[in-house]
Amino acid sequence: MNPFDKYQFESFSLKGDLTVLSATHEPEEFPHREEQIARMADAMSSLLLGMKSSHLILYGKTGTGKTSVTKFVTSKLSEKIGGNLTVCYINCQNYDSPYSILVFIARTLLGPDIVPQSGWTLDRIYEELVSGLKNLKKEIIIILDEVDKLVEKNGGDSLYLLLKVTDENPGVSGSIIGITNDTAFYEKLDPRVKSRLNKESIVFPPYNSEQLRDILLPRVRRVLGDENYDETAVNLCAAIGAQEHGDARKAIDLMRVAIELALRDSAKRVTREYVYKARDNLEIDIMRETIKTLPVHSKLVLLSVILCGEARPNSATTGEVSSIYNHLCERVGIAPLTQRRISDFLTDLEDYGLISTTLKSLGRYGRTRLIRITGRENDMKRYILDDPDFSNIGDVKQSRQFKLDERI
Ligand SMILES: Nc1ncnc2c1ncn2[C@@H]1O[C@H](COP(=O)(O)OP(=O)(O)OP(=O)(O)O)[C@@H](O)[C@H]1O
Ligand SMILES: [Mg+2]
Repeated sequence: MNPFDKYQFESFSLKGDLTVLSATHEPEEFPHREEQIARMADAMSSLLLGMKSSHLILYGKTGTGKTSVTKFVTSKLSEKIGGNLTVCYINCQNYDSPYSILVFIARTLLGPDIVPQSGWTLDRIYEELVSGLKNLKKEIIIILDEVDKLVEKNGGDSLYLLLKVTDENPGVSGSIIGITNDTAFYEKLDPRVKSRLNKESIVFPPYNSEQLRDILLPRVRRVLGDENYDETAVNLCAAIGAQEHGDARKAIDLMRVAIELALRDSAKRVTREYVYKARDNLEIDIMRETIKTLPVHSKLVLLSVILCGEARPNSATTGEVSSIYNHLCERVGIAPLTQRRISDFLTDLEDYGLISTTLKSLGRYGRTRLIRITGRENDMKRYILDDPDFSNIGDVKQSRQFKLDERI
């Protein structure tokens, strides 16, 4: 028997490629970003006359189109200017120091072998880059995506050298486009960077659900044609994306997964139900990945919160969680950490959205934190216990055997 026989896919067929709904798709149309595109084009138009353009800082929450619009606008500018312009895209999450950024630019614009493997000093790379760019005789646009990561890691001074390259060398003409989620980014810069950064700021506001619908619909039509889906399914993706701080990525991901699930089910059309299922799938994926990457002690603290909740459905206190945690450490065979560290882990787990805590006053005995799980305990427990280090705590899988009251 062929195990794929059951996947008949006779319901509806795709009219176009599903990659139109993937992260790699680069659209040519950006509904509701006309103003931002026009302002960017305006700011960069001086390059068409062979003059330097001002630097740009783009602000906006995740999924508001900053990266894709920037790539679109700069590629259109390249079409116009041709060989006299080079665009260098750098994600500061990967290149997170002034040195690695200068090396990256040198290798991209001047050739991969320009910097020896053994490296150069920062001064040397600066000198070589400047002289290389003078010979290159091109306009340069340097896109620093997630530029806040660079400043967070290296301080408010980290753009200094780069601005010196682009602004203080006759014969070199470059401009920087910094992209960030952090509205306070500019304030974190050093005065000497601020005074050099002659910039224009452009805000990418969150999308509302109607706007997300306009973004989604053309893509959905390309994949599914005019039928095969309920409009309410698209509306629901848009509404969920709007709730998630106006995130187009979220809305697009939801629609793609909903279509995949509907296809797998041999459904007649993509309905709201598939969008709800897609949301559950995506949330579980995120939760699984988050839990998988937690440090061992953090996993044990989370497991303790889950076990507390099972034994006593109302919120657990920090003391109760610590007590179970100590017991789990004993079973796993590792030394428990102090109460303070446990508190730190609880704060991290709350930041990840895995638990929620509230402070409760105990009158003259001070205050305690009440802790509860925010997601599906059973899935969380399964993902934690997948860790091979925890093979010898297998019997807590039967949580009821694990009597909270005996431990505290
Ligand atoms: N107005 C729009 N029209 C069409 N597609 C859009 C629009 N805005 C965003 N998108 C799409 O949404 C997805 C997310 O956009 P993008 O990666 O540009 O967001 P971002 O603002 O850079 O987010 P982050 O801050 O998380 O990096 C991409 O697939 C992009 O093509
Ligand atoms: Mg981005």
